[in-house]
Amino acid sequence: MGSITFHHVFKRYKGESRPAVNDFHLSIEEGEFLVLVGPSGCGKSTTLRMLAGLEEISSGELYIDDKFVNYVSPKDRDIAMVFQNYALYPNLSVYENIALGLKLRKTAKYEIELRVNRVAKILEISHLLERKPSQLSGGQKQRVALGRAIAREPQVFLMDEPLSNLDAKLRAQTRAEIIKLQSDLKRTMVYVTHDQVEAMTMGTRIVVMKDGVIQQVAPPRQLYDEPANLFVAGFIGSPQMNFVNGSVLKEDGRFYFVNKRIRLALPEKYGSRFDSLTRSERNVVLGVRPEHVLLGPDRTDEPQPNSVSAVVQMTEATGADSYVYVAVGETRIIARTEPETVYRPEDKVSASFQLEKLHFFDENTGDAVGGEPG
Ligand SMILES: Nc1ncnc2c1ncn2[C@@H]1O[C@H](COP(=O)(O)OP(=O)(O)O)[C@@H](O)[C@H]1O
Ligand SMILES: [Mg+2]
Repeated sequence: MGSITFHHVFKRYKGESRPAVNDFHLSIEEGEFLVLVGPSGCGKSTTLRMLAGLEEISSGELYIDDKFVNYVSPKDRDIAMVFQNYALYPNLSVYENIALGLKLRKTAKYEIELRVNRVAKILEISHLLERKPSQLSGGQKQRVALGRAIAREPQVFLMDEPLSNLDAKLRAQTRAEIIKLQSDLKRTMVYVTHDQVEAMTMGTRIVVMKDGVIQQVAPPRQLYDEPANLFVAGFIGSPQMNFVNGSVLKEDGRFYFVNKRIRLALPEKYGSRFDSLTRSERNVVLGVRPEHVLLGPDRTDEPQPNSVSAVVQMTEATGADSYVYVAVGETRIIARTEPETVYRPEDKVSASFQLEKLHFFDENTGDAVGGEPG
């Protein structure tokens, strides 16, 4: 129970030239924790609202448990949704807010009492049941909203940025609680956020969207290690992946990445990606994550292979990590370093890349070039 299938779903709002959701095509398994992530306006909420039945589908088909539901009203979908702004009824007590959905479904009174008390205990809000929403903190309100969804015991939970209004500490704590709840209840969860850290820590599978279009669907690790295009590569990970323009060329059977300042002899494993190289060179964007950039002492006097001269611009220490921003000519590169190593602006250093950890993107399409099979 609780599987979902989007079959080429579009949403076109009246008067808008571009579809808000463009050919959303995806199956979600029963019990899965799926996260939709992407910048503001990319169509996440619209997708979720179509799934909830709160927004009409312009074209395509939506199935829940193999049942065609395009025209099924929200209350008949066995779905509970939690919103960013909690959407509690101000005149009802916490108890009544949690009980309301059950009451409307004509659940027996003793059953309602049982369920409300049970979720209140899980969420540690038993002592708040008599209060009105105005007497609660933001975190407590969000718990009540979660409780209302859980008490319904739906097959599918939908959450639209439910943690956005909480402060950092409470956000991290509630995030952990939602993960635990979902794994205990084993219900399908579709969770929307614009925060890539939230997406990476919560989802078992992540859908990255941009301009209404799915960019990639993958488990967190794969999204990080094998981004399908420049957008995903830049969106997932903080600080973001470094990008360097240049070209790949073949010399004596070996592939090199080169630009005005950099020349990298590429490990054999990348060779197959460039086999289709028809011309002698191909313009690409090289991607390398900050943790794969190594800084060392300046070697301008004795240039090393696969290493470039760089000048430190600034450093940023987060406590556990330090990030050093260096300039290689016009290109700015961020390196993650040990916090113990101290760099100062204008320091001359050498930068090298972990050659096994490079990414290559087509300069024109932005799509990843080749990639590991599977
Ligand atoms: N009711 C509406 N009428 C017209 N355009 C809308 C409406 N709701 C959202 N949009 C537009 O659809 C696009 C996607 O919006 P939305 O789904 O809210 O994105 P997200 O949740 O990812 O921020 C945006 O360009 C937004 O302006
Ligand atoms: Mg939204």
